[in-house]
Amino acid sequence: LTGTVGLMSLSLAACGGGSGDGSSAGGGSQTVFKLAFNQTEDHPQYAAGVALGEKLEEATDGRYSVKVYPNEQLGGQADVIQNLSNGTVELMWVGAPVLEGFNSDFVVFNLPYMFDSTEAQGAVLSNTDALDDLYHSIEAAKSITVLTGVNAGTRNVYNSKHPIQTPADLQGLKIRVQQSDSQVAMIEAMGAIASPMNNGDVYSALQTGVLDGAENNEVTWDALKQSEVAKYYSYTRHLMLPDYLLMSTKALDKMSDEDQAALLEIIPEIQKLANDGFADFTEKSIEHATSIGAQFNDDVDVAAFKSLVQPLVESSVNENDVRKGLYQLVQDANAAHPAK
Ligand code: GCU
Repeated sequence: LTGTVGLMSLSLAACGGGSGDGSSAGGGSQTVFKLAFNQTEDHPQYAAGVALGEKLEEATDGRYSVKVYPNEQLGGQADVIQNLSNGTVELMWVGAPVLEGFNSDFVVFNLPYMFDSTEAQGAVLSNTDALDDLYHSIEAAKSITVLTGVNAGTRNVYNSKHPIQTPADLQGLKIRVQQSDSQVAMIEAMGAIASPMNNGDVYSALQTGVLDGAENNEVTWDALKQSEVAKYYSYTRHLMLPDYLLMSTKALDKMSDEDQAALLEIIPEIQKLANDGFADFTEKSIEHATSIGAQFNDDVDVAAFKSLVQPLVESSVNENDVRKGLYQLVQDANAAHPAK
């Protein structure tokens, strides 16, 4: 029986990969979830999304699969999340700050200098019991379920003008951040002028001088060619914020209990795939950026930046008990996995 269904889904794939609109046309047809992604096919999250499709197809006897749309083909993350919420896109990878617009308590993991190590962040993001309430907190109002969180490197500041060593070097520079209040407040506390925008718009804004710089991991900076136009990359190490894999709650609810369980069972493997590929991709990005003349500066007064953002961190984590609880999780993980 499995063989027959497998063949059937193969032939469907050959005719164009199913309906593509997330709806099932009945008897034996396949539902293909659209997964929106704002980066390139080289990114480990792209491969993890493809693997999700393959494993889901296998686990549901071909009833479900996934098609990944890279390079903002379905739009920038702030727009796509609206479509996820209304159910026209079923899956997406998203930078964590975007979720603050739906439930501001997501902010805790997005604050500067929050995690002391990748391992500490990993320990928090794999503590699914502790994150359960947060991950389901916007289902009722927004129809968004957080499936998992993954490491997305460490973010640093880069610009087209000069290396950044102290906060004075950042004064007056126009720096792109992700679209959330915490990210705007953070970069302004560090001395720059904040400019929130979609990732895909950054390259041309840097090129035309609308922006002086941005802040991101090496991977995104290089893969989106920002390293060509903003070559001074300085290790402020101000952020280690997760990316989340989101799913439309409506789409999840349409699945049978059995198929839903099959999907959820795959998620830890997907989380691992996305995490495991990241360090290697970072190394390759650094090599490539160096080969095209980018310059790295590790002589940064991190303590000075840290003290500038500290009041912001304290007022934010103390705002309510949910945030205090999430902050405690981070503190425990930092104690168990200190910086190396
Ligand atoms: C990183 C992160 C993305 C995010 C992007 C951004 O690349 O992995 O999820 O969208 O930064 O700054 O917009």
